Amino acid sequence: MDVGFVQNSPLFGRVKTNLDRVADLLKRVDADLMVLPELFATGYQFASRKEVDRVAEAVPDGPTTKRLIALARQRRCVIVGGLAERKGRHLYNSAVVVGPKGFLGVYRKSHLFYEETLWFTPGNTGFRVWNAAGVTLGVMICFDWFFPESMRCMALAGADIICHPSNLVLPHAPNAMITRCLENRVFAVTADRVGAEERADKERLTYIGSSQIVSPQGEVLIRASTDREEVRTITIDPKDARRKTINRYNHLFSDRRVEFYDTLVHPSPESAHHRPSALPQKNTREGRGRNIRPG
Ligand code: ACM
Repeated sequence: MDVGFVQNSPLFGRVKTNLDRVADLLKRVDADLMVLPELFATGYQFASRKEVDRVAEAVPDGPTTKRLIALARQRRCVIVGGLAERKGRHLYNSAVVVGPKGFLGVYRKSHLFYEETLWFTPGNTGFRVWNAAGVTLGVMICFDWFFPESMRCMALAGADIICHPSNLVLPHAPNAMITRCLENRVFAVTADRVGAEERADKERLTYIGSSQIVSPQGEVLIRASTDREEVRTITIDPKDARRKTINRYNHLFSDRRVEFYDTLVHPSPESAHHRPSALPQKNTREGRGRNIRPG
């Protein structure tokens, strides 16, 4: 199968212009699965919750999901792309999965990064997988990579390919994703954006591009530039992700010692690192006043 990504440079708030540009880029390729960046049509650096609210859309009836469905139909492929979702009184940093037959589902970002915690509600979908394009797909969004449990859950649920819409501002993710793929034996398609944003009185955010596709053996099959819009595809064999045998003595999943992993889900109460009170308060004057740098 052919999989790929679009690396775009959205203009903040210009949803229609950004959708038209992505539609143009998608015309250049023929693929079974295409991944678009996080918040690919809105831009990322919001200055207030009101700004997010202005561009947030219902899923699947909002204009961005509808346009992606039309594109998926035209291009005869599955598309995964990030958008701001409005659901009741909540705003989620979401990614939709659509195909030629329509809407397949939504993932809501579990691990919100930096000021996203001020505007968005943490996702409530958990890490689902979808059977689409003849494979099993999982979706996580950008900073979810920092939490290895995200990808592990999807690998255990049978994911062959992890779709990873992103807006990366730190340099670590592209290399870290190599380890994530190796330790889970899955493919990952990270679709990042390029360009910079410096809105209101905020620090300048420069997006690192470097969108990439990594194999279950940890090979970087494609890595894009740091500063140009690009659309790239590659042919992969998804069956490579189904061989979880490491060597004649080791198996990725059956060698796990789950009896020792209890602290992953039941942290010991005496550990200060696990106490929510040890964290800066979010959505409060105190939390906002702290010097929390992207990190
Ligand atoms: C990020 O999660 N957008 C860094």
